[in-house]
Amino acid sequence: MTYKEQIIKERLPRHIAVIMDGNGRWAKARGQERFMGHSQGVVAVDKVTMAASSLGVEYLTLYAFSTENWNRPKAEVDLLMDLISETIKKYIDKASKNNVRILVIGDLARLTDKARSNLSEAMRLTEQNDGLKLVIALSYSSRWEIINAVKAIAEKAKVGELDPSQIDEQLFSNYLTTANIPDPDLMIRTSGEYRISNFLMWQLSYSELYFTDTLWPDFDEEELCKAIVDYQRRERRFGKTSEQMSK
Ligand code: IPE
Ligand code: IPE
Ligand code: MG
Repeated sequence: MTYKEQIIKERLPRHIAVIMDGNGRWAKARGQERFMGHSQGVVAVDKVTMAASSLGVEYLTLYAFSTENWNRPKAEVDLLMDLISETIKKYIDKASKNNVRILVIGDLARLTDKARSNLSEAMRLTEQNDGLKLVIALSYSSRWEIINAVKAIAEKAKVGELDPSQIDEQLFSNYLTTANIPDPDLMIRTSGEYRISNFLMWQLSYSELYFTDTLWPDFDEEELCKAIVDYQRRERRFGKTSEQMSK
């Protein structure tokens, strides 16, 4: 039986978040430039997006570029930024045909005007689609996001619009870039790295974590289904006991 056939439709993760890692190593293993790995990574993004959409997953968040990735060699940063923003622009049609809504989270002020306008266009033109929400984390990091939220909350408190005693988990979440997006149920990281790398640290508090050695450009629908099947075999306890959960 394929992994796809093993999926229990009624218990799909609502939100899957992915750290798409291993593009550089994929290319290196073939004696190619790192960039070839990134462009092959785009092919995997399409496959996984279409698979998530047809399975009925509600949110798919893809970590495309971290705050720390700005420290890579300028040539790679420039190529990656172009690749990401052009790909998103070209994807608008396909997204719309499949009822996919594109959202982008991250410090977009650091992008070029052209990249920013491509992204705004993609968000605007897919706004009405109510199928899969494809959330691209771009120039994103969790610490950046949390600091931003803290600053905005402090400003409100300073001008007297908010009393510090009102600050709770819900209010804080509303100041994050993921306000209105449910926390990920499942987080996948490819390429055999076992770390979070500044990704959704607040939101991943109770997510199930899945790691695979597969390099991102090789990740496809069956790999996604394998991760979902693994997720469905787990028991999410949220601090309670197993006996409490089976009641
Ligand atoms: C992931 O692949 C893509 C980005 C971080 C943008 P990498 O470029 O990190 O690939 P490796 O980890 O060097 O193989
Ligand atoms: C994490 O991958 C960021 C993205 C996938 C966009 P990295 O390759 O940058 O992570 P580290 O440096 O190995 O932690
Ligand atoms: Mg990497």
